[in-house]
Amino acid sequence: MQRRDFLKVVGVGAAMVVVQPSMIGQKLYADNGTMFKTYDKVQLMDADGNPILASNLEKEKNYVFNYPHVATPCFLLALAEKVSGDVKLKSEDGEEYLWSGAVGKENNIVAYSAICSHQLTHVNPADSFISYIPKKQKTMAYAEGGVIVCGSHLSAFDPAKGAKKLSGPASEPLASIVLEHRDDDTLWAVAVLGPDKFHSFFKAYKPEFKLYFGGKRKAKKFVTVAAQTVPLTKYSKEVIQY
Ligand code: FES
Repeated sequence: MQRRDFLKVVGVGAAMVVVQPSMIGQKLYADNGTMFKTYDKVQLMDADGNPILASNLEKEKNYVFNYPHVATPCFLLALAEKVSGDVKLKSEDGEEYLWSGAVGKENNIVAYSAICSHQLTHVNPADSFISYIPKKQKTMAYAEGGVIVCGSHLSAFDPAKGAKKLSGPASEPLASIVLEHRDDDTLWAVAVLGPDKFHSFFKAYKPEFKLYFGGKRKAKKFVTVAAQTVPLTKYSKEVIQY
């Protein structure tokens, strides 16, 4: 099994919690309870119910799955190049945490919340104003592609650096989804690291939850067992990129 050596969550004041891989999957929180949360291990599956295999992912293509809640969208990306881990990041409140890199044989597979940390623009079945812009594509939000861009106010985030903010009004990274890559090449979502915005998200979009999920209570349910993972162009009718 390929896993990170370990995952560290660093609190302000140098308090540090070291999470051994064997503990992922149990209830274990950072000292403030907000920066690292484990949820059910959920396998990423395609629309036909077959396991997503890491080596079959198309590089630089936006894939979307919902995790840990039924209505919270996330990006799955196989980046163009290998990613080196251990990036120190900070939330708006000053909480520090360490993002420990990508998974997969090429160390290039990452996942992030598809809810913008600025004002909650997110991927939904009607449209998407936030997505990964491939390296060779131009964007108005940053000098070069290879970044996640929120078109609402042009914030850009670096997917090779834990979704650290590169430009625009966002004041913190996108939350990252901790992935496990197994010997059989399958991918599993196991936890959320960083400022997740789920609380504000569930307060803000009641009509949308009713429209797409049958109500807020159903939208807030946790995903269990498997998460359907599809290209963004299948998830959203319209993908708008700037
Ligand atoms: S909501 Fe994403 S940049 Fe403002």
